[in-house]
Amino acid sequence: MARITAGVASSHIPALGVASDFDKTAEPYWAPAFAGYEWTKRWEAEQKPDVVILVYNDHASAFDMKIIPTFAIGCGESYQPADEGWGPRKVPVVEGHPDLAWHIAQSLIIDEFDMTIINEMDVDHGLTVPLSMMFGKPEAWPCKVIPLAVNVVTYPPPSGNRCWALGEAIARAVASFEEDLNVQVWGTGGMSHQLQGPRAGLINAAWDNDFLDGLVGDSDRLRHIPHIEYLRETGSEGIEMVMWLIMRGALGKATRVLHRHYHVPASNTAVGHIVLEPV
Ligand code: DHB
Ligand code: FE
Repeated sequence: MARITAGVASSHIPALGVASDFDKTAEPYWAPAFAGYEWTKRWEAEQKPDVVILVYNDHASAFDMKIIPTFAIGCGESYQPADEGWGPRKVPVVEGHPDLAWHIAQSLIIDEFDMTIINEMDVDHGLTVPLSMMFGKPEAWPCKVIPLAVNVVTYPPPSGNRCWALGEAIARAVASFEEDLNVQVWGTGGMSHQLQGPRAGLINAAWDNDFLDGLVGDSDRLRHIPHIEYLRETGSEGIEMVMWLIMRGALGKATRVLHRHYHVPASNTAVGHIVLEPV
């Protein structure tokens, strides 16, 4: 039987990807941001997940205003890094797990989550930067990846409560897959960030840390945070944090924290990262 063994959340700031790609991670500006991922890199090397269900958002790379799926699951064999305007990142191709992905798609849709099924797409920094943060710069990514894309770019994004419930449904789907697989669920994006306008650079460390606290233990208070609170307290792109609730929902009733990291500044955004296991 497939098992969800852990949940990981991380910001997906594109400049972190650039720092990794151009070997700038030891520079004074970047070193503290990357230092908080060293524990996780060692832990992932021991855990050796077979599959990561990687919850992320596309930033007008695979989707644009022509089509805006609220929840989409990648059922393809592989995904190329997207060209986001300066050529694709020179990172490995992302290998999918079509059997598990189709199983999850079927289970979710029968469970009344109407997923969009994607067989072909490129994946942008939302997906590839977390892979770099957790795995560094290998020749090939060490696990299969099932991309699960969430619309948090164009209004209206899904509610936190709906995201949490989707995570719960993903857990049911994984538990009913017969092959013995070590599966992790990752949530990406966040934390505080406002990229444009008069409030650009807004950071609310107190709110972010309270959100990190809320992911640990048996509370489900985070699922009820309204969109307007993310926007007001953490900036317009802070809404990306609803994706972390899919990861949290997938871990079940209670969690234990294994590792936690928070750092400002990186770009004009707060870096947040947490590793959880179900209890
Ligand atoms: C930044 C963060 C994001 O999540 C993103 O999608 C783009 C840019 C940033 O902090 O620069
Ligand atoms: Fe983003």
